Amino acid sequence: MSVSTVAADQTVCSDSSGALPVLGRDVTVPLVTGGEVTYAALDYAASAPALQRVWDDVAAYAPYYGSVHRGAGYLSQLSTDLFENARRTVEEFLDCRAGDQVVFTRSTTDSLNLLAAALPADCQVFVFETEHHASLLPWRDARVTYLNAPRTPGEAVDTLERALAARDPYGPALVCVTGASNVTGELWPVRELATAAHAHGARIVLDAAQLAPHHPVSVQDLDVDWVAFSGHKLYAPFGSGVLAGRSDWLREAEPYLAGGGASRRVTRREDGGVDVEWHDSAARHEAGSPNVIGAYAIASACKALTEEGFDRLIAREQHLIRTVRAGLAEVPEVRVLSLFGDDAPRVGVISFVVEGWNSSHFAAALSAEYGIGVRDGLFCAHPLVRTLLGSAPEAQGECGAPEAAPGEKSLNAIRVSFGAGTPDEHVERFVRAVRELVSDGARWQYRTEDGRCVPAV
Ligand code: ALA
Repeated sequence: MSVSTVAADQTVCSDSSGALPVLGRDVTVPLVTGGEVTYAALDYAASAPALQRVWDDVAAYAPYYGSVHRGAGYLSQLSTDLFENARRTVEEFLDCRAGDQVVFTRSTTDSLNLLAAALPADCQVFVFETEHHASLLPWRDARVTYLNAPRTPGEAVDTLERALAARDPYGPALVCVTGASNVTGELWPVRELATAAHAHGARIVLDAAQLAPHHPVSVQDLDVDWVAFSGHKLYAPFGSGVLAGRSDWLREAEPYLAGGGASRRVTRREDGGVDVEWHDSAARHEAGSPNVIGAYAIASACKALTEEGFDRLIAREQHLIRTVRAGLAEVPEVRVLSLFGDDAPRVGVISFVVEGWNSSHFAAALSAEYGIGVRDGLFCAHPLVRTLLGSAPEAQGECGAPEAAPGEKSLNAIRVSFGAGTPDEHVERFVRAVRELVSDGARWQYRTEDGRCVPAV
Protein backbone atom coordinates (compact mmCIF):
# COMPACT_ATOMS: atom_id res chain seq x y z
CA MET A 1 0.00 0.00 0.00
CA SER A 2 1.36 3.40 -0.91
CA VAL A 3 0.04 6.88 -1.56
CA SER A 4 0.02 6.27 -5.28
CA THR A 5 -2.23 3.22 -4.96
CA VAL A 6 -4.83 4.77 -2.67
CA ALA A 7 -6.77 6.57 -5.41
CA ALA A 8 -9.80 4.75 -6.82
CA ASP A 9 -9.84 3.43 -10.37
CA GLN A 10 -10.50 6.61 -12.40
CA THR A 11 -12.88 5.55 -15.12
CA VAL A 12 -15.82 7.85 -14.38
CA CYS A 13 -17.33 9.49 -17.49
CA SER A 14 -19.60 12.47 -17.88
CA ASP A 15 -23.26 11.88 -18.82
CA SER A 16 -24.76 12.42 -22.30
CA SER A 17 -25.26 16.16 -21.66
CA GLY A 18 -21.61 16.45 -20.57
CA ALA A 19 -22.28 16.84 -16.83
CA LEU A 20 -19.67 15.30 -14.55
CA PRO A 21 -21.03 12.51 -12.33
CA VAL A 22 -21.89 13.75 -8.86
CA LEU A 23 -23.41 12.09 -5.81
CA GLY A 24 -27.17 12.44 -5.58
CA ARG A 25 -27.74 12.56 -9.32
CA ASP A 26 -30.33 9.76 -9.07
CA VAL A 27 -32.02 10.91 -5.87
CA THR A 28 -35.77 11.36 -6.28
CA VAL A 29 -37.95 13.61 -4.14
CA PRO A 30 -41.72 13.64 -3.66
CA LEU A 31 -43.87 16.38 -5.21
CA VAL A 32 -46.81 17.82 -3.29
CA THR A 33 -48.90 17.35 -6.39
CA GLY A 34 -48.13 13.60 -6.46
CA GLY A 35 -45.35 11.38 -7.76
CA GLU A 36 -41.60 11.80 -7.57
CA VAL A 37 -38.93 13.48 -9.70
CA THR A 38 -35.17 13.44 -9.80
CA TYR A 39 -33.95 16.21 -7.51
CA ALA A 40 -32.59 19.19 -9.43
CA ALA A 41 -29.85 20.60 -7.18
CA LEU A 42 -29.56 24.20 -8.35
CA ASP A 43 -27.89 25.70 -5.28
CA TYR A 44 -24.26 25.03 -6.17
CA ALA A 45 -23.24 28.50 -4.99
CA ALA A 46 -24.07 27.44 -1.43
CA SER A 47 -22.90 23.81 -1.56
CA ALA A 48 -22.08 21.74 -4.62
CA PRO A 49 -22.58 17.97 -4.56
CA ALA A 50 -19.48 15.77 -4.25
CA LEU A 51 -17.99 14.61 -7.51
CA GLN A 52 -18.37 10.85 -7.80
CA ARG A 53 -14.62 10.68 -8.31
CA VAL A 54 -13.98 12.58 -5.06
CA TRP A 55 -16.30 10.22 -3.20
CA ASP A 56 -14.60 7.17 -4.75
CA ASP A 57 -11.16 8.48 -3.78
CA VAL A 58 -12.29 9.19 -0.22
CA ALA A 59 -13.93 5.74 0.04
CA ALA A 60 -10.75 4.07 -1.29
CA TYR A 61 -8.65 5.87 1.30
CA ALA A 62 -11.03 5.58 4.28
CA PRO A 63 -9.91 2.07 5.41
CA TYR A 64 -6.34 3.37 5.57
CA TYR A 65 -7.27 6.43 7.64
CA GLY A 66 -4.74 7.28 10.33
CA SER A 67 -3.45 10.22 12.36
CA VAL A 68 -1.51 12.95 10.57
CA HIS A 69 1.91 14.21 11.79
CA ARG A 70 1.66 12.25 15.03
CA GLY A 71 2.00 8.52 14.58
CA ALA A 72 4.76 6.00 13.97
CA GLY A 73 2.44 3.40 12.45
CA TYR A 74 2.20 2.62 8.76
CA LEU A 75 -1.24 4.15 8.30
CA SER A 76 -0.17 7.32 10.11
CA GLN A 77 2.76 7.60 7.73
CA LEU A 78 0.48 6.97 4.77
CA SER A 79 -2.08 9.54 5.97
CA THR A 80 0.65 12.10 6.61
CA ASP A 81 1.99 11.60 3.08
CA LEU A 82 -1.50 11.92 1.65
CA PHE A 83 -2.13 15.13 3.58
CA GLU A 84 1.17 16.71 2.48
CA ASN A 85 0.65 15.54 -1.12
CA ALA A 86 -2.79 17.17 -1.02
CA ARG A 87 -1.05 20.42 -0.11
CA ARG A 88 1.20 20.10 -3.16
CA THR A 89 -1.76 19.33 -5.43
CA VAL A 90 -3.53 22.49 -4.25
CA GLU A 91 -0.31 24.46 -4.73
CA GLU A 92 -0.19 23.29 -8.35
CA PHE A 93 -3.93 23.82 -8.88
CA LEU A 94 -3.54 27.46 -7.79
CA ASP A 95 -0.24 27.92 -9.64
CA CYS A 96 1.38 29.27 -6.48
CA ARG A 97 4.76 31.01 -6.33
CA ALA A 98 7.79 29.30 -4.84
CA GLY A 99 7.68 29.93 -1.11
CA ASP A 100 3.89 30.32 -0.90
CA GLN A 101 2.11 28.41 1.84
CA VAL A 102 -1.06 26.35 1.51
CA VAL A 103 -2.93 26.21 4.81
CA PHE A 104 -5.86 23.83 5.16
CA THR A 105 -8.75 25.51 6.96
CA ARG A 106 -12.45 24.70 7.36
CA SER A 107 -13.81 27.01 4.63
CA THR A 108 -13.40 30.37 2.89
CA THR A 109 -14.85 32.06 5.97
CA ASP A 110 -12.26 30.35 8.14
CA SER A 111 -9.45 31.21 5.70
CA LEU A 112 -10.30 34.91 5.65
CA ASN A 113 -10.69 35.01 9.43
CA LEU A 114 -7.23 33.45 9.67
CA LEU A 115 -5.78 36.11 7.39
CA ALA A 116 -7.60 38.80 9.37
CA ALA A 117 -5.90 37.46 12.52
CA ALA A 118 -2.52 37.63 10.78
CA LEU A 119 -2.65 41.28 9.64
CA PRO A 120 0.42 43.29 10.60
CA ALA A 121 -0.04 46.08 13.10
CA ASP A 122 -1.84 49.14 11.73
CA CYS A 123 -2.84 47.36 8.53
CA GLN A 124 -5.79 49.04 6.81
CA VAL A 125 -8.28 46.86 4.95
CA PHE A 126 -10.25 47.85 1.85
CA VAL A 127 -13.30 45.86 0.86
CA PHE A 128 -16.24 46.54 -1.44
CA GLU A 129 -19.69 46.52 0.18
CA THR A 130 -20.64 44.01 -2.51
CA GLU A 131 -18.71 41.16 -0.87
CA HIS A 132 -20.52 38.25 0.74
CA HIS A 133 -20.28 38.13 4.49
CA ALA A 134 -17.29 35.74 4.57
CA SER A 135 -15.12 38.43 3.00
CA LEU A 136 -17.01 41.47 4.30
CA LEU A 137 -17.02 40.73 8.02
CA PRO A 138 -13.70 39.20 9.20
CA TRP A 139 -11.92 42.57 9.22
CA ARG A 140 -13.95 44.34 11.84
CA ASP A 141 -11.06 44.42 14.33
CA ALA A 142 -8.87 46.17 11.73
CA ARG A 143 -9.22 49.66 10.33
CA VAL A 144 -11.52 48.83 7.45
CA THR A 145 -12.85 51.00 4.62
CA TYR A 146 -16.00 49.74 2.93
CA LEU A 147 -16.08 50.85 -0.70
CA ASN A 148 -19.38 51.62 -2.44
CA ALA A 149 -20.72 49.23 -5.06
CA PRO A 150 -19.19 50.06 -8.46
CA ARG A 151 -21.42 49.78 -11.55
CA THR A 152 -18.62 48.76 -13.93
CA PRO A 153 -15.38 46.80 -13.49
CA GLY A 154 -13.48 49.98 -14.46
CA GLU A 155 -15.24 51.92 -11.72
CA ALA A 156 -14.18 49.23 -9.23
CA VAL A 157 -10.52 49.79 -10.13
CA ASP A 158 -10.86 53.60 -10.01
CA THR A 159 -12.66 53.48 -6.65
CA LEU A 160 -9.98 51.26 -5.18
CA GLU A 161 -7.12 53.36 -6.52
CA ARG A 162 -8.61 56.54 -5.08
CA ALA A 163 -9.20 54.95 -1.68
CA LEU A 164 -5.70 53.46 -1.49
CA ALA A 165 -4.04 56.70 -2.56
CA ALA A 166 -5.96 58.67 0.05
CA ARG A 167 -5.23 56.35 2.96
CA ASP A 168 -3.84 58.02 5.97
CA PRO A 169 -1.33 57.05 7.20
CA TYR A 170 0.17 55.42 4.10
CA GLY A 171 0.96 52.16 5.92
CA PRO A 172 0.35 48.47 5.25
CA ALA A 173 -2.92 47.70 3.52
CA LEU A 174 -4.88 44.70 2.36
CA VAL A 175 -7.57 44.59 -0.33
CA CYS A 176 -10.09 41.75 -0.19
CA VAL A 177 -12.04 41.06 -3.37
CA THR A 178 -14.25 38.32 -4.71
CA GLY A 179 -13.46 36.60 -8.00
CA ALA A 180 -17.10 35.93 -8.91
CA SER A 181 -20.11 37.31 -7.09
CA ASN A 182 -22.24 34.83 -5.14
CA VAL A 183 -25.28 36.95 -6.07
CA THR A 184 -24.86 37.95 -9.71
CA GLY A 185 -22.21 35.43 -10.80
CA GLU A 186 -20.36 38.35 -12.44
CA LEU A 187 -16.57 38.18 -12.63
CA TRP A 188 -14.57 40.91 -10.93
CA PRO A 189 -11.49 42.48 -12.57
CA VAL A 190 -9.10 40.70 -10.21
CA ARG A 191 -5.87 41.20 -12.15
CA GLU A 192 -6.54 44.94 -12.58
CA LEU A 193 -7.41 45.30 -8.90
CA ALA A 194 -4.21 43.45 -7.97
CA THR A 195 -2.18 45.80 -10.17
CA ALA A 196 -3.85 48.80 -8.53
CA ALA A 197 -3.30 47.37 -5.04
CA HIS A 198 0.38 46.70 -5.64
CA ALA A 199 0.93 50.07 -7.31
CA HIS A 200 -0.27 51.63 -4.06
CA GLY A 201 1.81 49.42 -1.78
CA ALA A 202 -1.11 47.22 -0.72
CA ARG A 203 -1.61 43.48 -0.81
CA ILE A 204 -4.65 41.64 -2.10
CA VAL A 205 -6.50 38.49 -1.15
CA LEU A 206 -8.81 36.83 -3.67
CA ASP A 207 -11.99 35.25 -2.35
CA ALA A 208 -12.26 32.46 -4.91
CA ALA A 209 -15.18 30.65 -3.24
CA GLN A 210 -17.35 31.11 -6.34
CA LEU A 211 -14.55 31.38 -8.91
CA ALA A 212 -12.43 28.28 -8.28
CA PRO A 213 -15.24 25.77 -8.99
CA HIS A 214 -15.81 27.38 -12.41
CA HIS A 215 -12.52 28.85 -13.64
CA PRO A 216 -8.82 28.11 -13.31
CA VAL A 217 -7.23 30.36 -10.70
CA SER A 218 -3.56 31.23 -11.11
CA VAL A 219 -1.99 33.11 -8.22
CA GLN A 220 0.86 34.10 -10.54
CA ASP A 221 -1.22 35.25 -13.51
CA LEU A 222 -3.65 37.17 -11.33
CA ASP A 223 -0.75 38.41 -9.21
CA VAL A 224 -2.75 38.11 -5.98
CA ASP A 225 -1.05 37.66 -2.63
CA TRP A 226 -3.50 35.10 -1.21
CA VAL A 227 -6.39 32.99 -2.41
CA ALA A 228 -9.16 31.49 -0.27
CA PHE A 229 -11.71 28.87 -1.29
CA SER A 230 -13.96 26.17 0.17
CA GLY A 231 -14.10 22.43 -0.49
CA HIS A 232 -17.89 22.33 -0.21
CA LYS A 233 -18.32 24.58 -3.25
CA LEU A 234 -15.59 22.71 -5.17
CA TYR A 235 -17.35 19.32 -5.18
CA ALA A 236 -15.45 18.20 -2.06
CA PRO A 237 -17.84 18.69 0.89
CA PHE A 238 -15.73 17.13 3.63
CA GLY A 239 -15.17 20.13 5.88
CA SER A 240 -11.97 21.64 4.47
CA GLY A 241 -11.03 24.91 2.85
CA VAL A 242 -7.81 26.59 1.75
CA LEU A 243 -5.83 29.76 2.34
CA ALA A 244 -2.83 29.89 0.01
CA GLY A 245 -0.28 32.60 -0.60
CA ARG A 246 2.56 34.60 0.85
CA SER A 247 4.12 33.10 3.93
CA ASP A 248 5.56 36.20 5.64
CA TRP A 249 2.43 37.57 7.34
CA LEU A 250 1.35 34.03 8.24
CA ARG A 251 4.75 33.16 9.66
CA GLU A 252 4.94 36.33 11.74
CA ALA A 253 1.42 36.01 13.17
CA GLU A 254 0.39 34.26 16.34
CA PRO A 255 -1.03 30.81 15.55
CA TYR A 256 -4.71 31.00 14.58
CA LEU A 257 -5.43 28.19 17.05
CA ALA A 258 -3.03 27.25 19.85
CA GLY A 259 -2.44 23.55 20.30
CA GLY A 260 -0.60 20.43 19.22
CA GLY A 261 0.60 20.32 15.64
CA ALA A 262 1.21 24.10 15.59
CA SER A 263 3.91 23.89 18.26
CA ARG A 264 7.44 22.61 17.65
CA ARG A 265 8.63 22.65 21.27
CA VAL A 266 6.91 23.42 24.56
CA THR A 267 8.88 23.83 27.80
CA ARG A 268 8.15 24.73 31.39
CA ARG A 269 9.93 27.90 32.59
CA GLU A 270 11.53 28.24 35.95
CA ASP A 271 8.87 30.78 36.94
CA GLY A 272 6.25 28.10 36.38
CA GLY A 273 5.00 29.34 33.00
CA VAL A 274 5.25 27.70 29.61
CA ASP A 275 7.37 28.69 26.61
CA VAL A 276 6.28 27.69 23.12
CA GLU A 277 8.24 27.57 19.89
CA TRP A 278 5.71 27.60 17.04
CA HIS A 279 6.18 26.11 13.59
CA ASP A 280 6.99 28.51 10.74
CA SER A 281 5.31 26.34 8.14
CA ALA A 282 1.59 26.05 7.34
CA ALA A 283 1.27 23.76 10.39
CA ARG A 284 1.54 26.92 12.54
CA HIS A 285 -2.13 27.62 11.69
CA GLU A 286 -3.35 24.02 11.60
CA ALA A 287 -3.36 23.11 15.29
CA GLY A 288 -5.27 19.97 16.26
CA SER A 289 -5.58 16.80 14.18
CA PRO A 290 -5.72 17.87 10.54
CA ASN A 291 -8.78 16.93 8.51
CA VAL A 292 -6.94 14.57 6.16
CA ILE A 293 -10.13 13.37 4.46
CA GLY A 294 -11.19 16.96 3.77
CA ALA A 295 -7.76 17.88 2.38
CA TYR A 296 -7.56 14.70 0.31
CA ALA A 297 -11.06 15.36 -1.07
CA ILE A 298 -10.07 18.89 -2.14
CA ALA A 299 -6.95 17.55 -3.85
CA SER A 300 -9.03 14.91 -5.62
CA ALA A 301 -11.46 17.60 -6.87
CA CYS A 302 -8.57 19.80 -8.04
CA LYS A 303 -7.18 16.89 -10.06
CA ALA A 304 -10.59 15.92 -11.45
CA LEU A 305 -11.38 19.46 -12.67
CA THR A 306 -7.90 19.94 -14.11
CA GLU A 307 -7.94 16.61 -15.93
CA GLU A 308 -11.47 17.20 -17.21
CA GLY A 309 -10.24 20.53 -18.58
CA PHE A 310 -11.61 23.92 -17.61
CA ASP A 311 -12.06 24.89 -21.28
CA ARG A 312 -14.67 22.19 -21.75
CA LEU A 313 -16.29 22.82 -18.38
CA ILE A 314 -16.54 26.56 -19.04
CA ALA A 315 -18.00 26.06 -22.54
CA ARG A 316 -20.67 23.74 -21.15
CA GLU A 317 -21.49 26.02 -18.23
CA GLN A 318 -21.84 29.00 -20.58
CA HIS A 319 -24.40 26.97 -22.53
CA LEU A 320 -26.37 26.39 -19.29
CA ILE A 321 -26.12 30.11 -18.44
CA ARG A 322 -27.48 31.05 -21.88
CA THR A 323 -30.38 28.61 -21.45
CA VAL A 324 -31.36 30.08 -18.08
CA ARG A 325 -30.89 33.72 -19.05
CA ALA A 326 -32.79 33.32 -22.33
CA GLY A 327 -35.61 31.51 -20.48
CA LEU A 328 -35.86 34.20 -17.80
CA ALA A 329 -35.72 36.98 -20.39
CA GLU A 330 -38.94 35.61 -21.93
CA VAL A 331 -40.86 36.22 -18.70
CA PRO A 332 -41.55 39.97 -18.37
CA GLU A 333 -42.33 39.66 -14.64
CA VAL A 334 -38.77 38.45 -13.95
CA ARG A 335 -35.96 40.90 -13.18
CA VAL A 336 -32.44 39.49 -13.11
CA LEU A 337 -30.09 41.22 -10.66
CA SER A 338 -26.87 42.58 -12.11
CA LEU A 339 -24.15 45.00 -11.08
CA PHE A 340 -22.10 45.13 -14.27
CA GLY A 341 -24.82 44.61 -16.90
CA ASP A 342 -25.92 41.94 -19.38
CA ASP A 343 -22.59 41.62 -21.17
CA ALA A 344 -20.48 41.03 -18.07
CA PRO A 345 -18.64 37.69 -18.07
CA ARG A 346 -20.17 35.44 -15.42
CA VAL A 347 -20.34 32.00 -13.83
CA GLY A 348 -23.46 29.91 -13.26
CA VAL A 349 -24.97 32.01 -10.47
CA ILE A 350 -28.11 34.02 -11.32
CA SER A 351 -30.36 35.91 -8.90
CA PHE A 352 -33.73 37.39 -9.75
CA VAL A 353 -37.05 38.63 -8.43
CA VAL A 354 -40.52 37.97 -9.81
CA GLU A 355 -43.00 40.81 -9.77
CA GLY A 356 -45.98 40.03 -7.54
CA TRP A 357 -44.28 37.07 -5.87
CA ASN A 358 -42.70 36.67 -2.47
CA SER A 359 -39.30 35.11 -3.26
CA SER A 360 -39.59 32.58 -0.45
CA HIS A 361 -43.00 31.50 -1.79
CA PHE A 362 -41.57 31.16 -5.30
CA ALA A 363 -38.60 29.09 -4.10
CA ALA A 364 -40.91 26.87 -2.01
CA ALA A 365 -43.12 26.23 -5.05
CA LEU A 366 -40.07 25.37 -7.20
CA SER A 367 -39.14 22.79 -4.60
CA ALA A 368 -42.54 21.34 -3.72
CA GLU A 369 -44.08 21.31 -7.20
CA TYR A 370 -41.01 20.73 -9.42
CA GLY A 371 -38.34 19.11 -7.22
CA ILE A 372 -35.94 22.01 -7.79
CA GLY A 373 -33.65 23.25 -4.98
CA VAL A 374 -32.67 26.94 -5.18
CA ARG A 375 -31.85 29.52 -2.49
CA ASP A 376 -33.95 32.57 -1.60
CA GLY A 377 -33.21 35.53 0.65
CA LEU A 378 -30.22 37.86 0.74
CA PHE A 379 -27.55 35.16 0.21
CA CYS A 380 -25.22 36.23 3.05
CA ALA A 381 -24.53 39.36 1.01
CA HIS A 382 -27.10 41.68 2.54
CA PRO A 383 -25.68 45.06 1.46
CA LEU A 384 -25.22 43.95 -2.17
CA VAL A 385 -28.67 42.39 -2.53
CA ARG A 386 -30.31 45.42 -0.95
CA THR A 387 -28.40 47.70 -3.31
CA LEU A 388 -29.51 45.62 -6.30
CA LEU A 389 -33.12 45.50 -5.09
CA GLY A 390 -33.03 49.18 -4.21
CA SER A 391 -34.53 48.32 -0.83
CA ALA A 392 -33.91 49.40 2.75
CA PRO A 393 -33.48 46.82 5.54
CA GLU A 394 -37.03 45.67 6.26
CA ALA A 395 -38.93 42.63 7.42
CA GLN A 396 -39.55 39.76 5.05
CA GLY A 397 -42.92 39.71 3.26
CA GLU A 398 -45.50 37.17 4.29
CA CYS A 399 -45.51 33.75 2.65
CA GLY A 400 -47.98 33.43 -0.20
CA ALA A 401 -48.63 37.16 -0.28
CA PRO A 402 -46.66 39.45 -2.55
CA GLU A 403 -43.84 40.94 -0.48
CA ALA A 404 -44.01 43.90 -2.83
CA ALA A 405 -46.99 44.94 -4.89
CA PRO A 406 -46.39 45.24 -8.66
CA GLY A 407 -44.09 48.17 -9.22
CA GLU A 408 -42.78 48.12 -5.65
CA LYS A 409 -39.36 46.86 -4.58
CA SER A 410 -38.87 43.23 -3.49
CA LEU A 411 -37.18 42.58 -0.17
CA ASN A 412 -35.60 39.24 -1.06
CA ALA A 413 -34.43 37.46 -4.19
CA ILE A 414 -34.26 33.95 -5.65
CA ARG A 415 -30.93 32.45 -6.74
CA VAL A 416 -30.33 29.60 -9.15
CA SER A 417 -26.78 28.26 -9.38
CA PHE A 418 -25.19 25.31 -11.13
CA GLY A 419 -21.91 23.90 -12.39
CA ALA A 420 -19.99 20.93 -13.70
CA GLY A 421 -22.44 18.33 -12.36
CA THR A 422 -25.63 19.94 -13.66
CA PRO A 423 -27.45 18.07 -16.44
CA ASP A 424 -29.23 20.14 -19.12
CA GLU A 425 -32.56 18.75 -17.93
CA HIS A 426 -32.25 20.52 -14.56
CA VAL A 427 -31.95 24.01 -16.03
CA GLU A 428 -34.58 23.24 -18.68
CA ARG A 429 -37.00 22.12 -15.94
CA PHE A 430 -36.18 25.28 -13.99
CA VAL A 431 -36.96 27.55 -16.96
CA ARG A 432 -40.26 25.73 -17.61
CA ALA A 433 -41.17 25.91 -13.92
CA VAL A 434 -40.59 29.68 -13.76
CA ARG A 435 -42.71 30.18 -16.84
CA GLU A 436 -45.56 28.03 -15.49
CA LEU A 437 -45.53 29.49 -11.98
CA VAL A 438 -45.68 33.04 -13.34
CA SER A 439 -48.41 32.30 -15.88
CA ASP A 440 -50.56 29.80 -13.90
CA GLY A 441 -49.66 30.48 -10.28
CA ALA A 442 -48.80 27.92 -7.60
CA ARG A 443 -50.91 24.77 -7.56
CA TRP A 444 -50.62 24.35 -3.80
CA GLN A 445 -51.21 26.33 -0.64
CA TYR A 446 -48.18 27.46 1.39
CA ARG A 447 -47.73 28.79 4.92
CA THR A 448 -44.87 30.22 6.97
CA GLU A 449 -43.09 27.97 9.46
CA ASP A 450 -40.06 29.19 11.42
CA GLY A 451 -39.65 32.02 8.95
CA ARG A 452 -39.68 29.72 5.90
CA CYS A 453 -42.39 29.21 3.35
CA VAL A 454 -43.50 25.54 3.26
CA PRO A 455 -46.38 23.60 1.72
CA ALA A 456 -49.50 23.97 3.90
CA VAL A 457 -49.99 20.19 4.01
N1 ALA B 1 -21.76 32.29 0.23
C1 ALA B 1 -22.66 31.20 0.34
C2 ALA B 1 -23.83 31.35 -0.57
O1 ALA B 1 -23.79 32.21 -1.39
C3 ALA B 1 -23.06 30.99 1.73
O2 ALA B 1 -24.80 30.65 -0.48
